[in-house]
Amino acid sequence: MKIRYTEKPKSTLTVRFIPENDTIDLPDFTGAIDQINTHYKNGKGTLFCGIGPRKSCTPAIIRTAAAKAVQAVQKLKRKAVAVTVPELTNGSTTFETAMIEGILLGAYRYCAYKSEKPVEIATVEILGGTLPPADVRRLQCISESVNYARNLVNENASVITPAYLAKEARKLAATSQCTVTVLDATELRRKKLNLITAVGSGSATPPVLIMLEYRGGPRKVPVTALVGKGVTFDSGGQNLKPTGSIETMREDMVGAAAVLAVLSAAIRLKAPVNLVGVIPAVHNAIGSRAFFPGDIYTSYAGKTVEIWSTDAEGRLILADAIAYCRNTFKPARVIDLATLTGGIITALGEQIAGLFANSDELAAALFNAGEETGERLWRLPVYKEYSDSLKGDRGDLRNLSKFRKGCASSITAAAFIQEFVGDTEWAHLDIAGTAYNEAGARGEIAQFASGFGVRLLASYLGF
Ligand code: BES
Ligand code: ZN
Ligand code: ZN
Repeated sequence: MKIRYTEKPKSTLTVRFIPENDTIDLPDFTGAIDQINTHYKNGKGTLFCGIGPRKSCTPAIIRTAAAKAVQAVQKLKRKAVAVTVPELTNGSTTFETAMIEGILLGAYRYCAYKSEKPVEIATVEILGGTLPPADVRRLQCISESVNYARNLVNENASVITPAYLAKEARKLAATSQCTVTVLDATELRRKKLNLITAVGSGSATPPVLIMLEYRGGPRKVPVTALVGKGVTFDSGGQNLKPTGSIETMREDMVGAAAVLAVLSAAIRLKAPVNLVGVIPAVHNAIGSRAFFPGDIYTSYAGKTVEIWSTDAEGRLILADAIAYCRNTFKPARVIDLATLTGGIITALGEQIAGLFANSDELAAALFNAGEETGERLWRLPVYKEYSDSLKGDRGDLRNLSKFRKGCASSITAAAFIQEFVGDTEWAHLDIAGTAYNEAGARGEIAQFASGFGVRLLASYLGF
């Protein structure tokens, strides 16, 4: 999609955002949020979008309204549209920024497997805008990265294998100041990343550990490690998931997709940051080679782990990936993203992701980035009682807590990961609820993969 700033639009359709009760003479149109009304005069169309009371209008409201407007334009099968920047000046360009984001993110549709392709909007003309071209380019780059993450998740699990993710990482590193290392199954075994090896052992597509190193900042700027859960399909293993829970489990690599997408945006924008992206990629399969419930495996860090459920596999691969990453790159902080627990959907729904951290400062910075981008987070505690519930009897740790079934599963999952972060600053984002939405687009949040986390991390990292 091309974004063109102009005051002389060629398009015969214009979108306008209207605050509630503004003097606009349209029957049945009050300007309430979600109201959309198309009006034609002399062959020219105007799509009026309600944005609610002027005083309480926020960039988030504009982002969502712009996304919905673009979706209404798509329904009209238009190839071009003009959009007027709403006059809501608060002295900054935050409303205009949010509007462009809404347009770019809201236009996404996944139709790789649709025989009939929908008409795409090729050009959006922006009227009354003041954003410098470099900022527009940045927004375009970030939203393309979000869409890249969405595509990786929406594609079939039989296509997106661990090897496929490794190939994507190599592509990113091919053209930039970014290096890639991929540990294959043999190297994982040799280096004793036994938890990753165990989870990946049941599949015909072997596990890998992908590491991308991007150094865009001065040498003394500390390294931030982004670790993404890359379970390319989570069958549950021998603790097989039932029908109703298994169908969307290709989504279990959204953490990995977000990490690839953030790295790709950092590379393209030449962001002045030092990052490592780490992706333990496995297919948690069921079969005669699959790892065993009740067995004990020795992690890379040395702690032994009793397997109480092969479906609690995310924490296992993250534990090894984080321990190996700390050893290898000595990052100042680790942020992991994972579709870790169904419990986080029970707790926070599909609107907000769970945030866990051993550092108040890091938690606050991530929380603020969430408020700014609309990819919101809510922090939950990791008190000692939760960690205590993971003490093993035969081994050091159990991968499920001793709590009553289902109790505090998101917190105990975070507590398990915390056993492997040592004294490194760490935050964990449980994105099982926010990453995927079957029901249909909610404004800028696309149907199926949402791309959650990409804009959040870009904002946290300051690019
Ligand atoms: N990948 C799932 C979590 C998940 C659930 C992601 C729903 C997306 C949507 C994870 O590996 C898992 O199976 N978690 C279990 C943990 C349980 C065995 C403690 C869960 O949450 O049920
Ligand atoms: Zn699982
Ligand atoms: Zn999983």
